[in-house]
Amino acid sequence: MFERPTGGEKVILVQICSAGKPNPDEHAEFTELAASSGAVIVDQLISSRRRPDPRYFIGKGKLKELAQVVKLNQAELVIFSASLSPSQERNLEHALGSRVLDRSGLILDIFAQRARSFEGKLQVELAQLRHISTRLVRGWSHLERQKGGIGLRGPGETQLETDRRLIGKRIRQLKIRLDSVDLRRTMNRQNRVRARIPTIALVGYTNAGKSTLFNLLTESSVYVEDQLFATLDPTVRRLELVDGTEAVLADTVGFIRDLPHELIAAFRSTLQESREADLILHLIDASDSNRWQRVRQVNDVLKKLEAEGVPQIRVYNKIDKLNRSSRLTRNQHGEGRAVWLSAMTGEGIPLLLSAIEKRLSRKKIQGIIRLRANQGRQRALLFDMGAVLQETNVDDGGWMLELEIEERDFLQFAKREKLPTEILKRPLEDKSAVSVV
Ligand code: GTP
Repeated sequence: MFERPTGGEKVILVQICSAGKPNPDEHAEFTELAASSGAVIVDQLISSRRRPDPRYFIGKGKLKELAQVVKLNQAELVIFSASLSPSQERNLEHALGSRVLDRSGLILDIFAQRARSFEGKLQVELAQLRHISTRLVRGWSHLERQKGGIGLRGPGETQLETDRRLIGKRIRQLKIRLDSVDLRRTMNRQNRVRARIPTIALVGYTNAGKSTLFNLLTESSVYVEDQLFATLDPTVRRLELVDGTEAVLADTVGFIRDLPHELIAAFRSTLQESREADLILHLIDASDSNRWQRVRQVNDVLKKLEAEGVPQIRVYNKIDKLNRSSRLTRNQHGEGRAVWLSAMTGEGIPLLLSAIEKRLSRKKIQGIIRLRANQGRQRALLFDMGAVLQETNVDDGGWMLELEIEERDFLQFAKREKLPTEILKRPLEDKSAVSVV
């Protein structure tokens, strides 16, 4: 419903910088984002502001200059690199006589263009409606009629209540539909856990090369394009490793600095693939001069998704651009920590596969766990998993269990049951049991 015309609108970009000069990388990223949305950039303005003007974000002088540039170019849309409040957006639209979008609106717009799957479309629509509902002064029915995008002005304030009701109703409908898609996804995930098929999630900053690597590893053909957010919909495919281990590889949506929170909320269930994964491949464009910043930004999003505890292998991609050869570094346990490769030429892929294999290997751990009398359920589960070597009853009605279990299974179990995982660090000879309180 929110299809936007891709026929190239005439757009003016307003780059906001707080420190006098624009940061060249942020500037380039913003321009690229705008170009990715299909915009024809006719002019760019830079505004340096320490504190945003409450009414227009930019100052009076800059507003005047911008209005002239808009008029001169007959621009249809002005995009700001910062986040605008709903009222600033509205005031600017009035003052400029053109549509105005902020960075979040732009990203939402790109997502709307890219979503292909049923689920992806529902998620984007939900995110857009949440975004719009905070900016409700425009006519919803008008939006619907025009099949236009965000930022279009409607018949006016009189429509407001109807608009709110319509949007609220649509949001509820979308949530119900998404819940059922979500349920299916959760069931698929649970089946994989039951069948002990590990999941590997591919995450990374947009354009790092996730889809290229995904296609190479799974021999499939996910859409690859040199544009931001070329693939939006998470795709899950089977991956067979050399030792015969079966795994599932999930390609996730590209991350970006300050991903609009409406999107994170709407995509939570698909992004959850990373939280529930056994292993995260964090793809990094090694040729990107900002790669460290990007790594931090991706880790920030992972933290928001509570996925920061999932084991990670860093994959430095695009080494062909740097004329570097592939290599692998290991952590103190001898497991692969980082791999340098090229998803385009395939160089370094065997290193990655062996690092994945090692990380997913069925390493057994041993330890003693102390359960209290009210933790009979956990005790039964451990017995069901065949993990208990020996059991001793404790005076308070609880148990001491000597365990031998695959590390991965124990981690999953401990996570699910919200139990501490210190047991992993203790040798069996250490008879002081880990108390599970
Ligand atoms: P989004 O879906 O936009 O988040 O991007 P992505 O991370 O899935 O990246 P994608 O695989 O679409 O690749 C982005 C661009 O980088 C494409 O033009 C690829 O051809 C290019 N690319 C990917 N891997 C390599 C590589 O190893 N070397 C070089 N030179 N280019 C690569």
